[in-house]
This record gives sequence, C-alpha cells and structure tokens, in this order.
Amino acid sequence: MKIFLIGFMGAGKSSLGKKLAARLGLSFLDTDSFLESKQGRTITEIFEQEGEGYFRKLEAEYLRELADIERVVVATGGGLPCYQQNMDWMNEQGVTIYLEVPEDVLVNRVLTDNNKRPLLQGKSADQLSEYVKGTLAKRNKYYYQAQFVCHAAHPMDELVDVLAGYFRRFYVSSFQNEADSPG
Ligand code: S3P
Repeated sequence: MKIFLIGFMGAGKSSLGKKLAARLGLSFLDTDSFLESKQGRTITEIFEQEGEGYFRKLEAEYLRELADIERVVVATGGGLPCYQQNMDWMNEQGVTIYLEVPEDVLVNRVLTDNNKRPLLQGKSADQLSEYVKGTLAKRNKYYYQAQFVCHAAHPMDELVDVLAGYFRRFYVSSFQNEADSPG
C-alpha cells in the first residue's frame, strides 16, 4: 500500500510526508528528489536544458517505477497529478490525499521560498500571486480527484496526528492479514 500526497507547491507535502511516514513506520519518497537523483541534475537544470515537456515525461516515467515499492508515503511534485494520467495511476496504486491550502497562504509560502522552483523564478510578488491563483484554479480539477481532501492550513502536527490515527488501522490490519495468511 502506498500513500500519495498531492497539492500545490508550498502545500507542505514533503514535511508532512516525512512525519506521517515516521509515525506509520513506512518509508518516505519525494518524487522531485527521486527524479533529481536518477538524472544527476537539479529540476532547475532539467527545465533550463530540456524544457518543461521533457520534465513532465521524466516525472511520469519515474512515478511508474514506484509500482513495486510498498509501504511508502510519496510526496509528489506540485504539477505531477495534472499530466500523463498520473492521477489515475496513483488512484489505482494506492491512497491519494490532496493537501488543500488556501491560495493566499500558498502565495505567502512561495514568496518566501521559491528559489528551487523554476516555474516561479523571476516573478515579482504580483506576478507570483497571479500565477498561483490562475494555476491552482486549473489544477484543482486534478487535485480533487484524490480520494481524500485534507485541509492543510491547520498546524502540521495536528494534521499528522489525524492522518496517522486514520491510516494506522489500515496498516495494522494489512500486517495482521499478511501474518495470518498461510505460506
Ligand atoms: C512543480 C512543483 C515542484 C517541482 C517542479 C514543478 C509544479 O515540486 O516538481 O518545480 O509544476 O508545481 P514541489 O511541489 O515539491 O515544489
């Protein structure tokens, strides 16, 4: 079983994912870091050298390499659910959770931390705000295909408590089923 965390840049997928994985005794994987380590270059370099279309192809290809990995929390890149039927694939492979954060909170977060994100670089505060609002409106159609929507503006530790409490029973029962099964 896999848990996929999806949502816009700045939604807190990686921070929450690491904590949730630790609480559930699962491993953690971040699709951006996975892609960078496979490619031996940063996402910014891939965007600069090959363009966004190529990055989206890589993202989809490496996502599907996770098919055989079980018991993992996956933090996905913000655009990943919106391309190459990735949302359908994740919904077939495991549990999908949309970390929904109000757009003004997202704008504030990316304003202070946008230097690793090629789609945000070089934008003024007004342009960033426009970009976040416009892009979120288009992406929500995909994000809302998630099986769970989590209002992620709450304090991170409270969210982790709620999600860990909810998902723990599934992991415990799947463990027990494995232990009970013959052979
Ligand atoms: C992107 C989000 C980034 C990264 C890339 C593109 C996007 O991931 O995949 O810069 O299209 O929203 P984070 O959501 O982890 O910042």
